[in-house]
Formats: sequence, C-alpha cells, structure tokens
Amino acid sequence: MNDSAAADGIALRVDSVTKTFKVHHERATSLKQFIATGGRNRYEVFEALHDVSFEVPVGEAVGIIGHNGSGKSTLLKCMAKILTPNAGSISINKRMAALLELGAGFHPELSGRDNVFLNAAILGMARPEIARRFDDIVAFSELERFIDTPVKNYSSGMYVRLAFAVAINVDPDLLLIDEILAVGDVTFQQKCMEKFVQFRDEGRTLVLVTHDTSSVRNFCDRAIWLDHGEIKADGPPADVIDIYTETMLEAQASDDGSSRRGDGPVRVTKVDVLVADTRMERVRSGDDVTFRVHFESTEPVPNPVFSLMISSLEGITVTAPSSRDARAVPVSVDGSGYVDISVGDLALIPGSYVIHTEVSGWSRKHVYDHVQNARSFDVLAGETSEADGFVTLRPTWTWAGDGVSAERYDREVPPGSEPDDIT
Ligand SMILES: Nc1ncnc2c1ncn2[C@@H]1O[C@H](COP(=O)(O)OP(=O)(O)OP(=O)(O)O)[C@@H](O)[C@H]1O
Ligand SMILES: [Mg+2]
Repeated sequence: MNDSAAADGIALRVDSVTKTFKVHHERATSLKQFIATGGRNRYEVFEALHDVSFEVPVGEAVGIIGHNGSGKSTLLKCMAKILTPNAGSISINKRMAALLELGAGFHPELSGRDNVFLNAAILGMARPEIARRFDDIVAFSELERFIDTPVKNYSSGMYVRLAFAVAINVDPDLLLIDEILAVGDVTFQQKCMEKFVQFRDEGRTLVLVTHDTSSVRNFCDRAIWLDHGEIKADGPPADVIDIYTETMLEAQASDDGSSRRGDGPVRVTKVDVLVADTRMERVRSGDDVTFRVHFESTEPVPNPVFSLMISSLEGITVTAPSSRDARAVPVSVDGSGYVDISVGDLALIPGSYVIHTEVSGWSRKHVYDHVQNARSFDVLAGETSEADGFVTLRPTWTWAGDGVSAERYDREVPPGSEPDDIT
C-alpha cells in the first residue's frame, strides 16, 4: 500500500528500478583455468533492468513489448515482489494478482481442487470466499473432470486454464500477465481476451507482457517498449509498435544472421508478414497470410523470377513457391515495388520458420539477389491440433466396419483417459 499513490489515482508506480543478476561462469575445467581463477567461480554482473520508471493510472491497460531477454519478465517479477530490485522502488496500491511463469504457485502433487484453494489463499482470499467462488473458477477453467487429478498430470494448456481462472476470480484490481496465454488454445485465448475487455471496462488495471503486438494494438491503452532493460518508447500502442517493428526489421536487415549473394541490379529490401494488412511476427495456423517482398532495382530488369523459400529452423525446406511456377512474372521491374505472395488458410503447424528470398533471371541460372535468412516468423496454434511435421493436410477421417462404434469423441476427453490428451 502506498497512500500517496492511492491519492493521485495511480495503481502502480515503478521508480528508477534497476535489477542485476550475477551470471556465473562455468566451473574451472582444467588445472590451468583453476589456477587462473584462484579456484573461485567467477561471475559477471548483468543488468537486466536499468533505471526503469513509469506510472500506471487506475483503469489503464498497458502492453509491454520487447525482444527476447529485454527484461519484460524481470520487470513483472519485480512488480509481483518475486524479485527485489537492486535500486529504485515499486509501489502497488491495488489488490494484485499475477500470472507469471507456468505453474508458478501450483503444487504439483496436489489436486487441481487443492491448488485452487492454496493459490487463491496466497492471492489473499479467505477460505469461505474461495469456497463460494470455487464453482465459477472450475467452470471457467473447463477442468471439471480433472479437478481432483494432481496438477503434475496436467498439460501446459490445462495449467494455464486453472491459473487464469483463479487469477481473475480472486477479484484483483491489478492483474499482471506474462505471455502465458500463448499456451492455451484459441477458444480459451478468446475467452480470456473477453475477460480482459470486461476487466478493463470495469475500470481495473492490467499489465500485459506479450509478443503479440496486434493484441496490444487492439486491446491496450498504452504500450511500453523495453530494449536491453531500458524503456525505449512509452505511449499510444500504434506509435510504439510501429517504431518497434521498424527497428526490429532494420536490425534483421543488417543482421549477421542473414547472408546474401548475387550481383544483380534488383535487390530485396524487406520482407513483411501480414495478416489483415498488419505486420506480424507471429501468425496462426489457418490465418490468411501475405508475404510481402519489397524490392528495388537500379535499372530495368526483364522477366524477374521471385522466389520465397520457407524453411524450418533446422534448414529443411517446407515450401518454395516462385513467380515463374505461378506464371506471375512481370515483363520487367524498374525502381521500387513489392510483390505479395498471399496464402489463404495457412497450413503451417505451430513452430518457428525462416524465410529466404531469391530474385533471378527467367532461366534461374543468373541469380540477381539471394537472401538467406531474410527473416523469421512464428506460427502459433490455430484451429488445427496437429503438432508434428510442418504442415497439416487437413485430412478427413472416415471409419467403417461393424466393429466401430457410431459415436465419436469430439474435443471432449473420454472418461478414463490421460488428461495430457487435451490442451
Ligand atoms: N535469475 C536470473 N539469473 C541470471 N540472469 C537472468 C535471470 N533471470 C533473467 N535473467 C537474464 O535477464 C535478461 C532479461 O530476462 P527476462 O526473462 O526478463 O527477459 P524477457 O524480456 O522476459 O524475455 P522473453 O521475451 O524471452 O521472455 C536475460 O538476459 C536473462 O537471461
Ligand atoms: Mg519473458
């Protein structure tokens, strides 16, 4: 509690917070190394957050974005008092619930039921109140069948359902959520987003860490961009996300991770992944996705063949369409432009993919520009539940024979089966 914060309608105040970690080096593996280090383990001090300050007024929904390792989770853990800053302070003036790491706060050996009581009590709820809300919590989680199963047998999706159901039902005024929802299935994510909207409309305060910039754009009042532990931008989501994506793309373009060859007058300058005209880093299986390849040529180039290769992180080619195969080769290009390669109902299953591009002459022998690792993108779960391989062929299953029962189990889990069967 902080009375000065309460007085001016501030739900959360982060004041000059710095958080450092000791990063230990490997133990000495040779005598020489042992002597060099005097037999001690060496460590370096790493600053995960540097002088971070901002205030969140009551009723605001804030999205925190930033690259992997930029300090987002560290910041949320400091807010949730799981970590203590080395300098600066955080004052929280509201009843807070935090959804941070998967299963944090859950006891694996205890049943879902016991964990609900335990978790809600930790979040400050009295036992009679928990008992009163228990049915709502279980109903929201849709885990009726598994509520007496030890949570160690839950799938990650089930963990998230239960944790989220508890967090929103303890009636918090301030909710901190770290990425966690990406684990659940789409229907449940939808349900959570609806809950957020309701939450926000009730004047509660929300801090959301996510890589999904489109949900920040659509849902948050404000975005904060963390970069190497410092605030790089703080303001309206559209503005912050635009400069964030712009910077990330520039970094990708100049990244040593990409390599190019070719001597041609035409070069690929950028590759965008778009859904509904919005640039994305992550898309979903089943989305209508457009790959936009921007180019520039210094002189007229006749019959340029553009190809887009999509590979897995291990370098296996998943697909490699070209404008020549598609009979979509312009008579010439000159100056700048882009070509959209539009894919309806994306068949890629969840995972990370890498895009490579190539521009060549008609025969494809003369390569004008080949960019290896032009960019990467992630595919999140969509309507398909398939998880193996790279694509779904959207098969239809038809059973036949007298020995087959007429009814089928749909998404419902058959009684007596392992809870891991669902997400
Ligand atoms: N307990 C720890 N000990 C040492 N270093 C840590 C610890 N926790 C985090 N770090 C480091 O601090 C930096 C920030 O980590 P953090 O988890 O906050 O990033 P993040 O923005 O949440 O990243 P991501 O998007 O991958 O979740 C990283 O470089 C990470 O390796
Ligand atoms: Mg994180």
